[in-house]
Amino acid sequence: MPHRIIIDTDPGIDDALAFLLALASPEVQLEALTTTQGNVVVETATRNALSVLELAHASQIPVAQGSMFPLVQPLYASAAVHGESGLGNAVLPEPKAQAISQHAVDFLIEKVLAEPGEISVFPIGPLSNIALAIRKEPRFAKAVKQLVIMGGAVREGGNMSPLAEFNIYVDPHAAHIVFHSGIPITLIPLDATHKCLVTRADVEHINEVKSPIARFVKDVLTPYLDFYEANTDFGGSALHDPLTLATLIAPELLTLQELYVDVDIHGGVSMGNTFADFYQIARKPANMKVALDVQGRKFIELFVERMIQLSRKIQD
Ligand code: BDR
Ligand code: CA
Repeated sequence: MPHRIIIDTDPGIDDALAFLLALASPEVQLEALTTTQGNVVVETATRNALSVLELAHASQIPVAQGSMFPLVQPLYASAAVHGESGLGNAVLPEPKAQAISQHAVDFLIEKVLAEPGEISVFPIGPLSNIALAIRKEPRFAKAVKQLVIMGGAVREGGNMSPLAEFNIYVDPHAAHIVFHSGIPITLIPLDATHKCLVTRADVEHINEVKSPIARFVKDVLTPYLDFYEANTDFGGSALHDPLTLATLIAPELLTLQELYVDVDIHGGVSMGNTFADFYQIARKPANMKVALDVQGRKFIELFVERMIQLSRKIQD
């Protein structure tokens, strides 16, 4: 039986690639997308989610629009990394399908409570919707199977401030609620995602198949590769959000450690910093599994293989 998942997202270049990887993976059944502000404002996130599903011939999958603002912090939504549209150079037509009328928070609560222990949620943007669901319906935390979160930087430095990763930085108060909710969590932080580097050669390899999917992968990744080239010496671009799916499709590639992790919400230079109690100084039980390492190249090879398969399947 495939794992039933909902992706909570702010697409976002690597978010879009995470949906495509989910759709390309027989181990996964993508039940819905819920959107949040983050890389872009929520209306753009919703449009992008619908457009990418349409491109992948998956517009039967419902999209529910969620939080317009972080819980406490002001809206961030900047075009710096993902471009004005949120999807780099890709120009997708206006989607035919519409988001469902239910708010993402109510949709998440209803879906999860309808089948307790069945649905995993993969938040790959700021955690605003998940925190609101936890606060609105206390049974949510007990009924959701697990959260697999892209966020945080544990031993690694931040990518939004020297100490904070983007998704946590944008809504640290939401992260605080989620981390202390008691929900089983796997955290996929920059410590692992910075080792999953897609290259121009990988993009060209996918584009040996002539298909709208392959073309889309190239159009979203080209400016993302330019950004990484201009700002880092990584030698590729990090596929942050797709790596969450490794927990289901290639768990052997991840090195996970059970840890107590907290997030700073006190508002100084370390606002949004995610820190782990490696030596159990605080004597608190672990609240998540953290991916501290990954066989990054193997994950990228798997990603490329699955994008080629999806490109072959969807030819118009
Ligand atoms: C995270 O920030 C976003 O820009 C990406 O989509 C990813 O979810 C990485 O820090
Ligand atoms: Ca994201």
